[in-house]
Amino acid sequence: MLVLGLETSCDETAAAVLKDGDVLLSNIINDQIEIHSKYGGIVPELAGRSHNERVHRVITQAVQEAGVQLRDIDLIAVTMGPGLIGSLLVGLNTAKGLSYGLKTPMIGVNHLEGHLLAIFLQKKIQFPFIALIVSGGHTDLYRVSDFGQYKLLGRTRDDAAGESFDKVGKLLGLPYPGGPAIEKLARKGNGKAHKFPRAYLEKGSLDFSFSGLKTSVRTFLNQREQEGRITLTDEDISAGFQDAVLEVLVNKLISACKRENLSRIVVTGGVASNGALRMAVQKEAQCWGFEASFPDPVFCTDNAAMIACAGYHKFIRDQSSSTDFKELDAKASLSVE
Ligand code: KG4
Ligand code: ZN
Repeated sequence: MLVLGLETSCDETAAAVLKDGDVLLSNIINDQIEIHSKYGGIVPELAGRSHNERVHRVITQAVQEAGVQLRDIDLIAVTMGPGLIGSLLVGLNTAKGLSYGLKTPMIGVNHLEGHLLAIFLQKKIQFPFIALIVSGGHTDLYRVSDFGQYKLLGRTRDDAAGESFDKVGKLLGLPYPGGPAIEKLARKGNGKAHKFPRAYLEKGSLDFSFSGLKTSVRTFLNQREQEGRITLTDEDISAGFQDAVLEVLVNKLISACKRENLSRIVVTGGVASNGALRMAVQKEAQCWGFEASFPDPVFCTDNAAMIACAGYHKFIRDQSSSTDFKELDAKASLSVE
C-alpha cells in the first residue's frame, strides 16, 4: 500500500511516499528558514504563501524520487492540525484536489500523532510506552497504549521547549531557529557557570513551564550589559539555559514512567534532535533500567514521512475514518486524545 504524506502545518513544506507503513521511498522537506530568519521567527502570512508556491514541486519530487506515479498512490495522508491555519489550508486543499482528481482516498492526520508515531518509521516499539513530544509548539507527555490511544499526562503551561530555545536564541542574537544554534554554542560553554531556574511546579505535576527561564536569561543578559563584572560568555549562557531545560524534561519524563509503571520511552519532535537531550535521556533511562528510543533527527523535526506513517495506521485500524474530503477542515488547535 502506497501512502503519500503531506505536511504544511508550520514552516516546512514536506511530502513523502511510504510503502506498507514502514518502507520509506522518498522524504522531501523544503524548509523556509531563509524567509523567516530575517524576522527572527515565523511570519504566518509568508509561511502560507510560500507553501502555496512550493507544494506542487515538493509533491512531484517526492513521487519521482519514490519511482512511482501519482495514480499508483493508494492513500493521501495530510496534516489537518494543529498548526498555522493559513499553512494547514494549503496542504489540506492540495490533498483535496489530488483526492478528487485521482479518486484516491484521503485521510486527515493530527500533526502530534505524526510526531508520536515517527519512531515506527525506524523500529517497532512495543506498546504501551511514554512519549515526550518536544517541539516548537508543544511540550507534551503522553501514555501511548496503542495506535490511536493516547493519554495526555502533562503539558507546558506557557512556552513550549522549542519556543524557549527560539526566544533565547533571539535574545542572544542567534539565527532562527534558535534550537540548533544554542546547541552548537552550548557545546563550547560551561553550563555550571550560572544556574538558571528550573520550574518543577506543584509536587507531582507533570506539567512544564519555560517562560520564567526565558525571562531569567533576559534579565541576566541585561545585567551583563550594564555591569562589567559578569564575564559569562554567550556559550556559557547557552549551556546554562540548555541544562535547565533538559534537567526538567528528563526528570518529568522519568517521573511519568514511574507513575505509569512503564519502562519504554520515546522522545520526539524538533527538540529531540538535540544531542545533549538524547544523551541525558539515555543516561537517566539506563540508570532506571528503562529503554529510550529517538527517531533520527530528520524524523524529529517536521516531515511528511511521519504523517504518512500515522495516516497509514489510522487507515488500517479504521478505514471508515478515511473521510469524505468535503468534511475535512483545517484546525489550528486539535487534541490527539
Ligand atoms: O517539530 P518541529 O520541527 O516543529 C514543530 O512542530 O514545532 O520543531 C521545531 C522546534 C524549533 O523550536 C527548533 O528550535 C527546535 O525544534 N529544535 C531544536 C533543535 N533542532 C530543532 N531545539 C534544540 N536543539 C536542537 N538541536
Ligand atoms: Zn512538529
